Amino acid sequence: MANNKSESTQTAGTQTATLTDNSTGKTVELPILEGTIGPRVIDIRRLYAETGCFTYDPGYTSTGSCDSAITYIDGDEGVLMHRGYAIEDLASHSDFMDVCYLLLKGELPNQTQREIFEHSITYHSMLHEQMLYFYRGFRRDSHPMSIMVGVVGALSAFYHDSTDISDPHQRMVASHRLIAKMPTIAAMAYKYSVGQPFVYPRNDLKYAENFLYMTFAVPCEEYKVHPAVARAMDRIFILHADHEQNASTSTVRISGSSGANPFACIAAGIASLWGPAHGGANEAVLKMLQEIGTKERIPEFIERAKDKNDPFRLMGFGHRVYKNHDPRATVLRESCHEVLEELGKRDEPLLDLAMELERIALEDEYFAEKKLFPNVDFYSGIILQAMGFPTSMFTVLFALARTVGWVAQWQEMIEDPNHRISRPRQLYNGPMKRPFVPIEKRA
Ligand code: CMC
Repeated sequence: MANNKSESTQTAGTQTATLTDNSTGKTVELPILEGTIGPRVIDIRRLYAETGCFTYDPGYTSTGSCDSAITYIDGDEGVLMHRGYAIEDLASHSDFMDVCYLLLKGELPNQTQREIFEHSITYHSMLHEQMLYFYRGFRRDSHPMSIMVGVVGALSAFYHDSTDISDPHQRMVASHRLIAKMPTIAAMAYKYSVGQPFVYPRNDLKYAENFLYMTFAVPCEEYKVHPAVARAMDRIFILHADHEQNASTSTVRISGSSGANPFACIAAGIASLWGPAHGGANEAVLKMLQEIGTKERIPEFIERAKDKNDPFRLMGFGHRVYKNHDPRATVLRESCHEVLEELGKRDEPLLDLAMELERIALEDEYFAEKKLFPNVDFYSGIILQAMGFPTSMFTVLFALARTVGWVAQWQEMIEDPNHRISRPRQLYNGPMKRPFVPIEKRA
């Protein structure tokens, strides 16, 4: 269960690391901690008190920010596990509701637990009717992610009865509300942008199916969700459900560390996810493929990606953690071919172009040497486009799926007895103290 983690984190026997400050000759012994798997960590909590020094790690490439039992990634081996289950197994044998339960509670649900959980999520999917007016304040051409940041943040104004973070029941209700309402909020952001009426959720539909229904149905005719599309959607949700301490998850944890309410914290996560280096990459992949346009132009773009003086990067390639392959990309690559086949879009020119780009990049020495492989976003954009989503919705779907991960990580943080407000320090490089200059004497 979720709170196993404090038992499994232990000092690795008597192992310590010794740090000597050669300028002062001062030596400090730092404990080394060991988790269940993964690299050991040097516990530097006493470093400042004992040496007067901070550590310097911009981008946190060597920093473990928390103690977690939710997700494990081995970037060299291309491993991603949630609560010990491999992502490939979850994607093949379970569904998103199972994965949500697993992330939140630490175990896969039995039949009864599953029914209760699914019922709770289904029956929290409607939005407060007043929220519909909130949408109308946005311009019709607003990016749906900007609507998501606003509307999700605004949930705290509508659901006061689940903002007391010290009450475990309220935390649970807020978590279920967020997972349940996110598809409704996302579908409404889409409907608003295309000028169609909002479609209310249906309790007889499964989670992914319901989302597709709210997005693509219109009141004037019957709409049936294509089963292959619903399956692929569910799989995309599974593959994006959590990913350890990435930028948006860390943003949620940092926001939550001050005691902010969960709706505000998830809105902060959505804002962080929006960036093109993170969740915005799937949208950027499609834009890049459209810009490349034809196979003949691929070499030109490959050369640009390699040119240090050109800011262009091959979107959908590279990852901060995965340096061999992205296991999510492997699963999605398969799904991508299946879905396009089922939808009769196998000859989709963009897929053809993407496959050729992938082939050329993987054969290129630059990408091999820097260990740059296609990541999950390289394929998700192609599938989502084939399903009928506009590119502006791609990151919204990522946010929808990642909500459960954010919520699970937020809950874990609140329940962690070691949690404190996140407050990093810095290496100050600004001016020394200087006298104030009155305006008439300023240059
Ligand atoms: N195209 C060309 N060169 C690249 C790319 C790329 N996509 N990614 C990294 N490099 C080069 C980079 O120029 C650098 O070269 P050098 O060592 O000569 O300076 C080297 O590879 C290492 O790059 P980095 O920026 O230090 O690596 P990072 O770990 O800080 O960045 C990344 C990871 C994902 C931000 C980056 O690979 C990138 O910008 N990729 C494109 C955007 C993208 O697809 N993002 C989605 C990530 S997966 C979804 C998610 O989990 O959020």
